[in-house]
Amino acid sequence: MFFSSNPPIHSWKNKIVWIIGASSGIGAALASLLAQNGAHLVLSARSVDKLNDVARTCDAFSTFHSLILPCDIHSEEEIHSTYQKIKQQHHAIDLVIIASGTYDALSIREFNPQQLSTVINTIDTNLTGYYRVISYVIPDFLKNGKGGLAMISSVAGFSGLPNALAYAPTKAALNNLAEGLYAELHPHQIGIYIVCPGFVATPMTANNRFPMPALIEVDQAAQAIISGLEKGQFEIHFPKRFTLFLQFLRRLPRSWYIKIISYFFHKNSIL
Ligand SMILES: NC(=O)c1ccc[n+]([C@@H]2O[C@H](COP(=O)([O-])OP(=O)(O)OC[C@H]3O[C@@H](n4cnc5c(N)ncnc54)[C@H](OP(=O)(O)O)[C@@H]3O)[C@@H](O)[C@H]2O)c1
Repeated sequence: MFFSSNPPIHSWKNKIVWIIGASSGIGAALASLLAQNGAHLVLSARSVDKLNDVARTCDAFSTFHSLILPCDIHSEEEIHSTYQKIKQQHHAIDLVIIASGTYDALSIREFNPQQLSTVINTIDTNLTGYYRVISYVIPDFLKNGKGGLAMISSVAGFSGLPNALAYAPTKAALNNLAEGLYAELHPHQIGIYIVCPGFVATPMTANNRFPMPALIEVDQAAQAIISGLEKGQFEIHFPKRFTLFLQFLRRLPRSWYIKIISYFFHKNSIL
């Protein structure tokens, strides 16, 4: 096949998995499911208390104690020291999952110089921070001749979206980055996975005041991600009833796409 996929993951038993953004939502649900499947976890995010809660849930399924290493993805120094601590404990990481993210609605109608800080924070959390992690883990993956990197992007990265003018471009960039990484790293047996969820019920979406079509529970999202990883899928997107429709819209002529999407947003008074 021209575009073969990543090697399948047959078992999670004793696999070392570092989850960044493990303190809530999708990252926390993934941690719990992976612990149930026998993985050994390293859990990172900024909120120590929440990480402790997640670790308690995970450790109930396992004889292995999750390693809690709080860090802020904005800080190169913290990523560096966290990674050194992981290397002291574990010979090699099998999979890094970057799930950290932030979302603030942003419409051009409210945009002014004060809002630049929101844009900068979103880019740093959702994109630049991912590069910080990649800069440490990929060289070791190459040295070891194995490893996998899963990045949680979004369907918001498929095409331009109104009212998501900071968030959606970071996810589009992640989708693009994953394609480049895959092309370079696939011959080296390094797995690259890009995860594009639709709407998932997590703290991030809890305050959304607009309709969220095909909203799913966080455990369903975690299950879909694990299943995609096990199959070695490069792009893991779900729920299909929503993502396939968006992929269809993406293939339409641009002017049609923009008309349809702006009709939907105006009809639902999102703008
Ligand atoms: N929920 C959805 O509908 C949906 C849809 C598509 C994609 N996604 C993506 O899925 C990922 C997880 O989102 P979620 O819905 O699970 O939201 P969430 O519950 O708000 O989780 C976000 C996670 O990111 C961490 N985080 C935020 N800023 C960080 C920083 N500076 N350094 C380290 N960690 C940081 C948070 O931990 P701390 O605050 O403790 O640091 C938390 O663990 C995000 O990338 C999001 O864009 C979500």
